[in-house]
Amino acid sequence: MNDTTAGKAAADKAATLSLNGKASQMPMRSGTIGPDVIDVGKLYANTGCFTYDPGFTSTANCSSRITYIDGDEGTLLYRGYPIEQLAEGSNFLEVCYLLLHGDLPNKGQFDQFRTTISRHTMVHEQMTRFYTGFRRDAHPMAIMTGTVGALSAFYHDSTDINDQTQRMIASHRMIAKMPTMASMAFKYSIGQPFIYPRNDLDYTANFLQMCFAVPCEPYVVNPILARALDRIFILHADHEQNASTSTVRLAGSSGANPFACIAAGIACLWGPAHGGANEAALNMLEEIGTVDRVAEYVKRAKDKNSGFRLMGFGHRVYKNYDPRAKVMQKTCHEVLDALGVRNEPLLKVALELERIALQDEYFIEKKLYPNIDFYSGITLRALGFPKDMFTVLFAVARTVGWIAQWKEMIEDPEQRIGRPRQLYIGAPRREFAAIEKRA
Ligand code: ACO
Repeated sequence: MNDTTAGKAAADKAATLSLNGKASQMPMRSGTIGPDVIDVGKLYANTGCFTYDPGFTSTANCSSRITYIDGDEGTLLYRGYPIEQLAEGSNFLEVCYLLLHGDLPNKGQFDQFRTTISRHTMVHEQMTRFYTGFRRDAHPMAIMTGTVGALSAFYHDSTDINDQTQRMIASHRMIAKMPTMASMAFKYSIGQPFIYPRNDLDYTANFLQMCFAVPCEPYVVNPILARALDRIFILHADHEQNASTSTVRLAGSSGANPFACIAAGIACLWGPAHGGANEAALNMLEEIGTVDRVAEYVKRAKDKNSGFRLMGFGHRVYKNYDPRAKVMQKTCHEVLDALGVRNEPLLKVALELERIALQDEYFIEKKLYPNIDFYSGITLRALGFPKDMFTVLFAVARTVGWIAQWKEMIEDPEQRIGRPRQLYIGAPRREFAAIEKRA
C-alpha cells in the first residue's frame, strides 16, 4: 500500500494566529484526501492558550489509514473501498481482514484468516459463570460490558501490547469471540441453554445458529437472512473516530489491557445518541404506529420545546444521505420479502416518515437525513432479535473497527497518552476553613 505521503507536513502551508499583537505560525498537514489540519501541538508552548472544542467537532486526535468519511458528499470508504461496493461484493470476514491488515486478502490469505478466526470462537468455559451471575432481566449491553471486560482476566498470553504477535492474537480473539459472547448474553436473557459455535458455518451463519438454535432440534440457517445480517455487520464495521472508537483509543493510550479497552468501547456505544439509536428509532416507529400520525410527529420534532427528536435522523458527520442508510433500506426490503412480511406496518410508517421529512423545510435546511439506524431496527426485529439486542449486534460488528483502530494507535510513533485540556470555570483559589468557622 503506497501511503507514505499520508499525514505529511504540507511544506508550503502554515496557519498564522495573531494573538495580543504577536503572530504564531502553526504547521499544516495534508492527508491523502479530506481537509488539511492545523497542527496546534505547540500552541500552548508558543501562546499560553489552549483550543476549546467540546465534542471535538473541529479536532483531529490522530492520523489514521483505516476509514474515510466525507459527510457532505455522503461517502464512506474502508481502506479506500466504497462501503456500497463492499456491501455488495464482499463479506464481513473479508472486511475484517481488510480493516485489520490494510488490503483485501487473496484466496490463500482469506482461507488462512477464516481458519484462524474459527479456531478462536469458543470462550473459556469459566466464562459461563459470569453470565449466570447476572439477573435474567439485565440489559444485554450491561452483560456485554461486564463479560468482555472479564476477558482481560483470561488469555494472559495475548495481553503484552508491545509484542506485535500478541497484539494480533488478541485482535483475532476479539473478532472470533464476540459473536459467541453476544449470543450467550441473548440466550441467558431468554432462559435458553448456551449454544456452542459451529466452525463449519461461516461467521454470520454461525452467529445466527448460536442465537436461534436449541439443542433439541436441528437448525437450518436461512442463507438470505444470513447474507442480510452479514451486510449489516459490514455497514457497522468501522466509522473512523466516533465516540466509542475514540473511547477505545483513549483507554488504550494508557497501555491498558486490550480486552478492557474494547469493554470501554461497548460501554460508550450503549448510549442512545450512539449505538442505542436503532432501538430508539424502532421505539419511535412503534409509538407513531400508523401512517396517519406521521405528520403530527414531524411537527413535534420541529418544535424545540417538545424535547422530541426524530430518532434515526441526523448525524454529526453526514450532512447528506448516510450511504449506509441506502444499503440498509434495500436490505430491510430484502429481509421482509424473504420472510413474507412485506406489509409490515412499521415499514409503511418508516417510508412515510422518510418521505415527509425529506420534503420538509426544517429537515432540508438543517441537512437532517435518515441515518443507518432508521431502517436497521425494523430489519433486526424481522430477523428475530429483540430490541435490547440491537446495540449488541452493533458491538459485534464494530469490534473489528475498534481493534483495528486500537492496533493502529499502539503502532503509531506519534501517539501519546490522551489528555485533553479544559477551560476551568470553577471557584478561584480560596482558603480552607474548619467546619465550626463556616457560615
Ligand atoms: N430531529 C429533529 N431535530 C434535529 C434532529 C432530529 N433527529 N437532529 C438534529 N436536530 C436539530 C437540532 O435540534 C439542532 O437544531 P438547532 O440548530 O435549531 O439548534 C440542529 O438540528 C443540529 O443538531 P445537533 O444536535 O447540534 O447536531 P449534532 O451533530 O450534535 O447531533 C445527532 C447529531 C446526535 C445524531 C442528532 O442528529 C440526533 O440526536 N439524532 C437522533 C439520534 C440518532 O439517530 N442518533 C444516531 C446517530 S448515528 C450512529 O450513532 C450510528
